Amino acid sequence: MSNLWTRAELEAATGGRFLDCAGQPTTATPEGAVSGISIDTRTLQPGDLFIALKGDASDGHAHVQAALDKGAAAAMVHRAAGLADPRVLVVADTMQGLQDLAVAARTRFAGKVVAVTGSVGKTTTKEMLRLCLGANGKTHAAEASYNNHWGVPLTLARLPRDAAFCISEIGMNHPGEILPLAHMVRPDVALITTIGSAHLGHMGSLDAIAAEKASLITTLPAGGIAIVPDDAHGASFFAAAAQQASASLWTAGANPNSTAHMSALHAGADGTHFTASIAGVDVPVHIPAPGVHLARNALSALAACAALNTNLPKAAAALEAFAPGKGRGALSRIAGGAVTLLDESYNASSASIRAALDVLHHIPASRRIAVLGDMRELGDFATAEHTALAQPAAVSADLVFCCGPHMKSLFDALPHARQGAWADNAASLAPLVCAALRTGDAVLVKGSLGSRMRDIIAALGTLAAVEPA
Ligand SMILES: Nc1ncnc2c1ncn2[C@@H]1O[C@H](COP(=O)(O)OP(=O)(O)OP(=O)(O)O)[C@@H](O)[C@H]1O
Ligand SMILES: [Mg+2]
Repeated sequence: MSNLWTRAELEAATGGRFLDCAGQPTTATPEGAVSGISIDTRTLQPGDLFIALKGDASDGHAHVQAALDKGAAAAMVHRAAGLADPRVLVVADTMQGLQDLAVAARTRFAGKVVAVTGSVGKTTTKEMLRLCLGANGKTHAAEASYNNHWGVPLTLARLPRDAAFCISEIGMNHPGEILPLAHMVRPDVALITTIGSAHLGHMGSLDAIAAEKASLITTLPAGGIAIVPDDAHGASFFAAAAQQASASLWTAGANPNSTAHMSALHAGADGTHFTASIAGVDVPVHIPAPGVHLARNALSALAACAALNTNLPKAAAALEAFAPGKGRGALSRIAGGAVTLLDESYNASSASIRAALDVLHHIPASRRIAVLGDMRELGDFATAEHTALAQPAAVSADLVFCCGPHMKSLFDALPHARQGAWADNAASLAPLVCAALRTGDAVLVKGSLGSRMRDIIAALGTLAAVEPA
């Protein structure tokens, strides 16, 4: 069993105290260690430290006994009433305790840290980095997005002491959220994937979004490297932040003058190929999934590898193993193989819908069908942001189905011949989409998590066959 934290280290990092068998704090130096960290007893492994976090809707303190019964090596709590187990570590506040562990993990870490933020593409880029850096040394990253006030410290607290690389995804919904997380992460390389209109409702403007992302760059050490898209809104914010940190600014994209640039790009249904040129080195890249946006993410990931002086050809070759995450662009055959499905049901923003429509456009098919659900968190910008997608949707799709109140404005802006159907919710739209499919079609399903487009994916998955074309 690996030793992630000794009990003595847990006490030292958090200022907490383990209990004795009578339920009293003990001053004896505790023995033993924990091998992992859990905040959910359903996925807890024996040997884990269970941290009883208190959320809005739930309180981990209700599950401490269950965690101990499942073999937790320790349980961090801030309410110990009724607990008389020497595995219980009492701290002033468990969220603070988790953050203290994150800070201690970062302090003891001798490897390099890459932080990834951006409006879209964080998890995809993080997964690419996991492959690229993993080809060069032991690499730690969270298994899911984990990019918020608990996800970031949890990822750091789980960082094995002997890893060479750590990748941290940092997200935000509101102004000011990135900086405290970035100070915890203290990246050596800061990577911004994209600047787009996601969360525009809370943020108010693209400038505000760019400034927020740029705050990550200010936490670089002098001589650290920031990697930013070469065509994104916010170049002046990135430059100012890099100057503030005395960091280097690398650009990445299709511009031949960029520090990392791509050429000979081919993005088809068979995958995405390009040549990455970074700091004077050219490497061929093949990603076995379609999408120009994937090439851009891969280029940025490879730039981060170059920034860390790792072996670039090895890093590029590792991308052969990339597979799109769940609901993030997986291609499959449905209806007995008659229809191609592009599953983008995980989430949607203007940038990612445009990217997905572009992928749809390049899938060989007799007809291309887009099924689009509402984008959320756009506030007053919702109607304009949805309507603006009518043009790219009409270019890429022969027929467009729309779901949800905001998508009504896109639907109404489509040419009549492109209008499939609109419905208020996914359950109502699913049968209409199923009935419209014909042999040889390709269908894209995309929408914000809350628009429940995965229910349409589920309905499509039950189709045994469709009518001939
Ligand atoms: N560079 C990109 N440009 C546009 N769309 C992208 C890009 N990278 C990924 N996407 C698409 O955006 C969606 C979300 O991707 P991903 O999960 O990587 O983003 P994220 O930033 O981690 O999102 P979240 O904020 O929900 O954690 C997916 O549909 C994906 O295919
Ligand atoms: Mg994510």
